[in-house]
Amino acid sequence: MSNSVNHLLHFTFLYYLPLLLLLPVLSTAQNYKNITLGSSITSGSADPSWVSPSGDFAFGFRPIEDHRFLLAIWFDKIPDKTVVWFANGDIQIPKGSKVELTTDGQLILNDPQGKMLWPAGQQVSGATYAAMLDSGNFILASRSSADNLWESFKNPTDTILPTQKLEVNSIVYSRLTKTNYSKGRFRLRLLEDGNLVLNIAASPSLTEVQYDAYYWTNTANNDRRNAGSEAVFNQSGYLYVKVRNGTEVFLSPQNIPPATDVYYRATLDFDGVFTQYSHPRGKNVEQRWSTVWSVPDDICKIGGVLGSGVCGYNSYCLLTSDLRPRCECPLKFVFIDPNNRYGGCRPDFVQGCQLDEWKTKTDSFELETLEDIDWPTSDYEMLESYSEEQCRTSCLNDCLCDVAIVRVGNCWKKKLPLSNGRFSNSMNGKALIKVRRDNSSGLGPYSPSSAGEKKDRSTFILVGSLLLGSSVFFNFMLLAVIFLVLFFFKDRKNMRKNNQDPSVMRSNLRSFTYQELKEATDGFKEVLGRGAFGIVYKGVVEEMGSRNYVAVKKLDKLVEEGEKEFKTEVSVIGQTHHKNLVRLLGYCEEGQNQLLVYEFMNNSNLGEHLFGISKPNWNQRVQIAFGIARGLMYLHEECSSQIIHCDVKPQNILLDDTFTAKISDFGLAKLLMHDQTRTRTGVRGTRGYVAPDWFRNTPITVKVDVYSFGVVLLELISCRKGIELEQGGEEKALLTDWAYDCYTSGKLKDLVEEDEEAMNDMRRLERMVMIAIWCIQDEPTFRPSMKKVTQMLEGVIEVSVPPSPYPFSTSSGNYTQL
Ligand SMILES: *[C@@H]1O[C@H](CO)[C@@H](O)[C@H](O)[C@H]1NC(C)=O
Ligand SMILES: *[C@@H]1O[C@H](CO)[C@@H](O)[C@H](O)[C@H]1NC(C)=O
Ligand SMILES: *[C@@H]1O[C@H](CO)[C@@H](O)[C@H](O)[C@H]1NC(C)=O
Ligand SMILES: *[C@@H]1O[C@H](CO)[C@@H](O)[C@H](O)[C@H]1NC(C)=O
Ligand SMILES: *[C@@H]1O[C@H](CO)[C@@H](O)[C@H](O)[C@H]1NC(C)=O
Repeated sequence: MSNSVNHLLHFTFLYYLPLLLLLPVLSTAQNYKNITLGSSITSGSADPSWVSPSGDFAFGFRPIEDHRFLLAIWFDKIPDKTVVWFANGDIQIPKGSKVELTTDGQLILNDPQGKMLWPAGQQVSGATYAAMLDSGNFILASRSSADNLWESFKNPTDTILPTQKLEVNSIVYSRLTKTNYSKGRFRLRLLEDGNLVLNIAASPSLTEVQYDAYYWTNTANNDRRNAGSEAVFNQSGYLYVKVRNGTEVFLSPQNIPPATDVYYRATLDFDGVFTQYSHPRGKNVEQRWSTVWSVPDDICKIGGVLGSGVCGYNSYCLLTSDLRPRCECPLKFVFIDPNNRYGGCRPDFVQGCQLDEWKTKTDSFELETLEDIDWPTSDYEMLESYSEEQCRTSCLNDCLCDVAIVRVGNCWKKKLPLSNGRFSNSMNGKALIKVRRDNSSGLGPYSPSSAGEKKDRSTFILVGSLLLGSSVFFNFMLLAVIFLVLFFFKDRKNMRKNNQDPSVMRSNLRSFTYQELKEATDGFKEVLGRGAFGIVYKGVVEEMGSRNYVAVKKLDKLVEEGEKEFKTEVSVIGQTHHKNLVRLLGYCEEGQNQLLVYEFMNNSNLGEHLFGISKPNWNQRVQIAFGIARGLMYLHEECSSQIIHCDVKPQNILLDDTFTAKISDFGLAKLLMHDQTRTRTGVRGTRGYVAPDWFRNTPITVKVDVYSFGVVLLELISCRKGIELEQGGEEKALLTDWAYDCYTSGKLKDLVEEDEEAMNDMRRLERMVMIAIWCIQDEPTFRPSMKKVTQMLEGVIEVSVPPSPYPFSTSSGNYTQL
């Protein structure tokens, strides 16, 4: 937009202002002049700013803490002098610093010694004037060029103003705290795919890693014409994403007060909430900013696998009545940085395992109760059917345990740092935080690690010398004592060894010998199936007098890290209890032989039914879809440590006598592929069901399962395979493409062919197809969580119109999603 048009707009605008408002405008208008070459202002001087013609905005130095200054743009007429732009929160600007429009047309900031602190733009020069505009935009312009050379509107910090636009790839940064202008963790970005998103960034680094989007406008589309092109904050104060086809997707509500009565700004606040504010222009009303709208609705609920969530580590989030997060430390924890509530907490005492006295004095710790608080992502152990009392004892006796959550009869043990802490009154449980009763003794008078050993050695020396110099009888007695002591120690050692994998014992998994399983399977005779991880055999085991069929899986890729790793992972699988998961009964670990023993499912797998002759009827298929969704939801969100299946497909869905879906093979991807999030040596999963995320340099998340579930859901709907090369020509080869075509062209009936039942259930059919399309979105962020999928399937929440699953460009994967 040309500068003169901009001016013209503002002058026309002024004419229509009520007289009352016009008067002060006229009185300040004389302050205005184009800023000419060679002009400068100095921090700490009497007149350290350049004011816009109307007097609404000023550019210059604002005093902040410690006798320092901020080079900023602010609302100049309101008492608050609210800052809307700043040069750079990290640079220290002392008194006597000078910002100058140099004679060669550069805008630079120098400290009193003449050292350059900041330039406007990297290679901007040749400006013939600068101006502080009434919109709040500060520009550098040249009379010979229609476009401005630099503008503050194109380099936003944490605030955008009416008439400002965000183009694709623009980023708005939160500041660190209310008074610290360094970069905070939150970002508002307009992505190439057209979505306006909010997300948390990992700690500042050269190439910034972005965690989960926690809010998005849903304006992405693979068809460029239907994708968002810019975010507009129009002159009347309406903020919306403009879609190329002409649609406007509004963030502001309808009927906001006219911009002639109030000032507007939209700020990504330091607490991560993106808020549009209004402030009255008149002088005789309360002078404060009020919220017009804000997103997201409940920022305490955000959080992914990585990162601390909205609050820092070890703190928890409370949503205040004005929808703001408040971060709190548990009792006896303190803020790491006392000036920043959002920076996390640390224990204000010495923790368990660091203490020597730990072994003898467990009573130096106690548990503080916090009702309805949970840190859902920091579990290391889950103990089933534990009373609160048992849970307390278990945590107090485990020096690793820092927090235990007691909920619905289970006990989850957690280690620091805790992340994603939040209050939720629907949690139905409480957190028990382990704290020291008295922190004064700290590490104590001697070093914790060596002291114990030293004592042991000295006892042996004493015993040895006594032995050498005493009578036979006495020696005999001593030998007996030593024997007892050794015996006792050996026992203690064994106990400790068992304690290393207590979960295996507690999850009631049976440990089989190889010989037992060889006999159970009659020498591995009857093969039930061959999976990605090994061959499954049918077997019979005897337990408490009855003979039960089992499925014995012989792992062909061994768990390399050995016994402990194997047991840990097996215990994780063993702790899962869900109607829609195949139950693990036991395991065998003997050198090269690693086997898993599962319950046996009578009705073989979904694939055989779906693509075979005896297809389940529509209602059965719907129920199976529900079951798979619930099982996956459990794996992703409800069991103590999140499990990503990585290979969801009909062959891994077993059916019992009543056609209840039971997911099998879960937990194995983790077991046999260390460090799930980073390994890129091989794509896991099965062709046709594999999410595109595997082929990108992004972490693998639960959303890969959501994708595979989407494909399976389409297969359940249509009773055909995800990829079918022989049938129906090219356009039908890929089920995902074909289903989307059928959906957009309103030919859903084609998908179910002659299935009467399904055709008579058109609304449900459409709903399921829509859900499936949401699940197979190319961009993981857009795929719903399995919880949401379940709710949509059950009809608890509405299903919105899904966008096309494929992005229009492959480069849109420039942000990661967890
Ligand atoms: C400022 O400079 C621009 C560009 O030459 C000109 O159009 C405008 O009239 C000037 N404004 C004032 C108030 O001098
Ligand atoms: C703002 O926070 C940063 C990072 O913690 C710190 O280095 C800086 O000194 C702080 N600035 C002020 C003015 O407190
Ligand atoms: C424009 O695209 C959006 C999808 O982003 C769609 O919902 C809307 O119907 C389209 N409008 C027109 C007029 O095509
Ligand atoms: C801003 O958007 C609103 C809502 O579409 C519209 O009513 C208003 O006229 C727009 N204002 C301007 C100055 O374009
Ligand atoms: C722990 O000790 C330190 C220093 O003695 C003291 O400042 C702090 O308040 C104590 N914390 C608690 C929770 O008692």
